Amino acid sequence: MSDSLVIKGFGGKRELDGIVRVPGAKNAALKAIVAGILFRDELTLSNIPEINDIEKIFELLKEMGGEVTRLGRGKYTVFIPKGFSTEISPAIAKRMRASVVLTGPILARFGKVSFPHPGGCIIGARPVDFFIDGFQKMGATVKVNDNMYSVTAENGLHGAELFLKNQSVTVTETFIMAGLLAKGTTVIKNVAMEPEIAELVNFLNKCGAKITGAGTPTITIKGGKLLSGKGKLYKTMPDRIDAGSFLILGALAARELHIKNCNPKHLEALIEILRQAGVSVETKKTEIIVRAPSAIKPIDIKTHEYPGFPTDLQAPITVLLTQATGESKVFETIFEGRLNYTEELVAMGASITVMDPHRILVHGNSELKGRKLTSPDLRAGLAFVIAAVVAKGESVIHNVDTTIDRGYENVEKRLRAIGVNVERVLVVPETPVVPIAPKD
Ligand code: EPZ
Repeated sequence: MSDSLVIKGFGGKRELDGIVRVPGAKNAALKAIVAGILFRDELTLSNIPEINDIEKIFELLKEMGGEVTRLGRGKYTVFIPKGFSTEISPAIAKRMRASVVLTGPILARFGKVSFPHPGGCIIGARPVDFFIDGFQKMGATVKVNDNMYSVTAENGLHGAELFLKNQSVTVTETFIMAGLLAKGTTVIKNVAMEPEIAELVNFLNKCGAKITGAGTPTITIKGGKLLSGKGKLYKTMPDRIDAGSFLILGALAARELHIKNCNPKHLEALIEILRQAGVSVETKKTEIIVRAPSAIKPIDIKTHEYPGFPTDLQAPITVLLTQATGESKVFETIFEGRLNYTEELVAMGASITVMDPHRILVHGNSELKGRKLTSPDLRAGLAFVIAAVVAKGESVIHNVDTTIDRGYENVEKRLRAIGVNVERVLVVPETPVVPIAPKD
């Protein structure tokens, strides 16, 4: 059994309006929760989004010996005791790729950690070579047997200078946290500069850490002791990818859509692109107001680390480009598997030419027709929702519970509130017809 969304499309008409409220950021909350490993007492967190990935990380921490208490909607405490497990089992890692972020704090606090190669996923190989290389540079030894890494640092980690080949978000966060308990100073160069990282650093500094350089290419961490969350409250920043996804939906199908509880400053690349494409976008301190234009101009997109155009909005913006009045290029520079979803857009009627695993040409002027779709990952899944709203006729999007629900809180409720004709249904996957072997 899995959940599907049934959406009746508007056939390109602008029928949406009203208010969408943006929840806390999945990719900020996940790391703040994991940072609880570095605290000697309870960490209190708020504005945590009610999504599957958050439920999962709380389950994983509890399975490993952590204590999680829900104080109310979006409000939790996390406490990680001395006996916390240092093994991230394959079962755990399979359920949550981002569990790799646990490795740094566990190794730094307990002197050892074991974890499996998380394995690739639909958007890419997702290697962990930067993690292994960084732990070795900080004095750990790494053994590999049947796909499990065993990392030990008997005398604890020591500071090091690390240069990241790619500006990896989770590698940056993992080594900021590892550096907090290392002996001496750790300098990480060519780091990711996503706003979620600056938010994490600001909070850790409030709790006793000494980290400088967040938001710049070089971060410096002075090693110290376990932090204290006493009297401190972590408030999750708004989810810029959730806000951006609804902003793109509004640019295609809204008379006037108000996106509230967001931070427009975290969406400058998208807002600039939409304005150049002729979309009316007005910004206030914590709100964006968008109105769909009568025509969308084609525009080339190149994904890039922050503050460039986010890879997590590449699939949604490609749907918008199928409705543009001409040809646009999309260059996905971060992940090698993140254009696979375009096959299903073509089946809906989009005209797209795949140049190579990183580049497509979107020819625009396409009339999309509703159909059955299978959501491959949470961002392409939301892109299919946008396509279904724009399309003529009905679409059914499968695998919503294992993809879209991972990162978009109450998705059908928030869609319905702005006028989308959407229902969530439970679907029994078609049982494969098993041919009866002919009698001999
Ligand atoms: C984070 O993933 C986000 N996930 C992703 O969001 C996001 O798409 C990505 O950053 C890029 O912005 C979380 O924060 C939980 P990377 P992450 O390491 O950190 C290569 C979503 O939809 N790399 O920044 O795993 C890697 O292959 C998710 O919310 C290595 O080569 O991505 C990629 O090409 C999807 N070796 C590049 O770095 C390593 O050891 C950037 O990936 C690690 C990464």
